[in-house]
Amino acid sequence: MSDNGLFPIIAQIPKAELHVHIEGTLEPEMMLHKASKNGIALPYKTVDDVRKAYRFSDLQSFLDLYYLGVNSIVDRNDYYDLAMAYFRKASSQNVRRAEVFFDPQAHTRRGIDFSTVINGLHDAAVDAQDRYGISIGLIMSFLRDLPEESAMRTMEEALQYKKWIIGVGLDSKELGNPPEKFANVFKRARNEGFLAVAHAGEEGPAEYVWSSIKLLKVSRIDHGYHILDDDRLSLKVSQERIPLTACPLSALKLNHIVPLSSFPIRNMMERGLVPTVNSDDPAYFGGYINENYMALVAELGLTLDEIVILAKNSVFASFIGYEKKRDLYEEIDTALMELIENERRVS
Ligand code: ADE
Ligand code: ZN
Repeated sequence: MSDNGLFPIIAQIPKAELHVHIEGTLEPEMMLHKASKNGIALPYKTVDDVRKAYRFSDLQSFLDLYYLGVNSIVDRNDYYDLAMAYFRKASSQNVRRAEVFFDPQAHTRRGIDFSTVINGLHDAAVDAQDRYGISIGLIMSFLRDLPEESAMRTMEEALQYKKWIIGVGLDSKELGNPPEKFANVFKRARNEGFLAVAHAGEEGPAEYVWSSIKLLKVSRIDHGYHILDDDRLSLKVSQERIPLTACPLSALKLNHIVPLSSFPIRNMMERGLVPTVNSDDPAYFGGYINENYMALVAELGLTLDEIVILAKNSVFASFIGYEKKRDLYEEIDTALMELIENERRVS
């Protein structure tokens, strides 16, 4: 694998992560530790057993293990530890802004209170912002394989924590669960001031992206690979500059895009789309955000200029205000200049 000297640049360039599920950051070590503490039975004895089980044929085969693993997370402190471990890792990879999904229904449906989940995550967000200077937003994601009524009840429960949640999302099994199913709850959420995003065009067709835009009125599309199947949609998404949160290692491990050398990030950029690079479920797919950038360098020969565009796209696509975006663009340029200067001095 060749890195063209770009790995240190990827590691040090400031960036935003906009597509990561907090439940998908649960590393096997923490899963086993929390399961044992909470008396939760899992079909694994060792970390090795867990890792060996992580061979996915498709999205559903992954989701089955993702929902199984998260059973080990039970009390407020568990949610805190889970989130804090991700924030620490993200900060160490120079993530300056993280917009993080959580799946309330994956917890409330097994008897955990919404308040336990949100309090643990929020505590961690506050401490991480203090400790690491990382900026954090939480996005509440609805499980699309459950009925809309369940999402609506979740939304109602979330209202008392509105100030801690920046937006709503839509995830889980995409095929057979089109955005239309959630038009009412998204309308309600938007009226309450939540921003909207949705997984679309990951395994589902371009039509699901159309309806995410038209009916759910999303500000970003998560994944969005199948946009490229439809020229009219590609044009609309590029003209409206609706960003895409692409996740290379996820697409590879879920058999959506194989081999990784065919990952369409360059096609997206050439068509005037605004893709970003993200990790999705890093504990399951073999890498956090920097490993995702690095995989693209190794497999597609991504250049320095392209890396900078992608990092800047992540700032543009984030839900921080204009001034913070300007500061982050500046941080990227400064970091880049320093890296290049240092390189010159050494050689
Ligand atoms: N939940 C966690 N990761 C997901 C993904 N890649 N697609 C849909 N739902 C998810
Ligand atoms: Zn996802």
